[in-house]
Amino acid sequence: MTNTIAKTANNQTYNIEEWKRGYDSQPNEYEYEITEIEGQIPPELSGTLFRNGPGLLDIGGSAIYHPFDGDGMISAFSFKDGKAYYRNRFVQTEAYLEEQQAGKILYRGVFGTQKPGGWFNNVFDVKLKNIANTGVIYWGGKLLALWEAAEPHRLDPKNLDTLGKDYLDGVLEPGDAFSAHPWVDPSCELDGGAPCLVNFRVDPGLSSKITLFEFAPDGKLLRRHAHSIPGFSFIHDFIITPQYAIFFQNPVNFNPLPFVFGMCGAGECVEFKPEQPTNIVLIPRDPQNKEIRTFKVKSGFVFHHANAFEQGNKIHIDSITYETLPQVQPDSNYKEVDFDSLDPGQLWRFSLNLENGTVERQMLESRCCEFPTHNPNKVGRDYRYLYIGAAANNTGHNAPLQAILKLDLETGERQLHSFTPSGYTSEPIFVPKPNAEREDAGWVLTVVYDGDKHRSCLAILDGENLAGEPIALLHLEHHIPYGLHGSWCDEVFI
Ligand code: FE2
Repeated sequence: MTNTIAKTANNQTYNIEEWKRGYDSQPNEYEYEITEIEGQIPPELSGTLFRNGPGLLDIGGSAIYHPFDGDGMISAFSFKDGKAYYRNRFVQTEAYLEEQQAGKILYRGVFGTQKPGGWFNNVFDVKLKNIANTGVIYWGGKLLALWEAAEPHRLDPKNLDTLGKDYLDGVLEPGDAFSAHPWVDPSCELDGGAPCLVNFRVDPGLSSKITLFEFAPDGKLLRRHAHSIPGFSFIHDFIITPQYAIFFQNPVNFNPLPFVFGMCGAGECVEFKPEQPTNIVLIPRDPQNKEIRTFKVKSGFVFHHANAFEQGNKIHIDSITYETLPQVQPDSNYKEVDFDSLDPGQLWRFSLNLENGTVERQMLESRCCEFPTHNPNKVGRDYRYLYIGAAANNTGHNAPLQAILKLDLETGERQLHSFTPSGYTSEPIFVPKPNAEREDAGWVLTVVYDGDKHRSCLAILDGENLAGEPIALLHLEHHIPYGLHGSWCDEVFI
């Protein structure tokens, strides 16, 4: 892998056959010190990077229908004294254990995986498989694997053993949804400047209930309040400012009947409605303030937000937006995707005027991108630097992520670190250097799949000089299937 951009005649930088292999299952569990290292691990980099994502793309040799239905596998990269250790374990959910024992698919997946035997074997089976595959966070002394439609699973951070479902000391009931996208407010105004963890759950229906949770650093619940908003909601992520929790209610319809009758997954029953606006919903984080405000903006589909901040009578929200979202088709194969036919995810800024209720939107980055991140001390605050998984070229179309892009929101300067031709990037995580003063003084960590060698590495990039040589490339002995989300924790668990 080199930091150059190789192009084919049609501006493609990727090899689709190599890309596909990043979705091979990784059934093995490893534990070892990483010794094949290019460059040097900074000795001050001390802590653990946890990652989550689907580890199995098949069960007993039968392919699952969509990666989002894949069993959650946690990877932990531990850093201490300039050395790094890798460990991965599957979250031992009830369904994972049952299916591994049976050697076949026993559960339907939200994104279309069906039990064998056609609709007759799937009709009226609406129980969900909690696959614990989306996010992972260490908070209040607990390592939690998150999946948005059900309760978290708790793991032992030292060895990634699954300890069981976790109800957050009675905050959740069995089966309760709990989003996989919590944010840490680095300095909560309601708690005298102490950090807190903010998360939500959605109970969708003809109207949708959004419940907001805020937790102290010791894990104790600080605040919980629920609000009803009109219409069905498909909300994967949200964003916070000091005063607000902000939700994008994407314009979709949901007709569950084909799911109930065994013909497809629940996720395939979500239909994007481009003629309808997106509702941006502001819920005050202070439970005493009941004034919910809704802003309407031109349609688009948002999975992930980068950040938001308050500025006078305005709130700015930076989000990855898709102009259209193709419906998952029952007969499609996710590996046979035609990237050129899909709209790219692009970074937009939505500016809400709290006085007159209007919204302005402005594209900040047209290049196809996903998985935005930034300095965690800037969550909900005006910020300057954004790091994001990005396509190597700006073709105006969707494309696999093969680079990390740094965007200077003040000057518009861009830096690109490309892993073409064979590298495929994942969500970057920004780790500030100890006692750093500059916002971009830190390390950008991202797992890169090498489609040529069928192995993954962890890249440590320089947050200030992103386009420069990597600080270190830590080559694993195997591949990790394309992952979803992760988090950094300052504690070392070895
Ligand atoms: Fe996500």
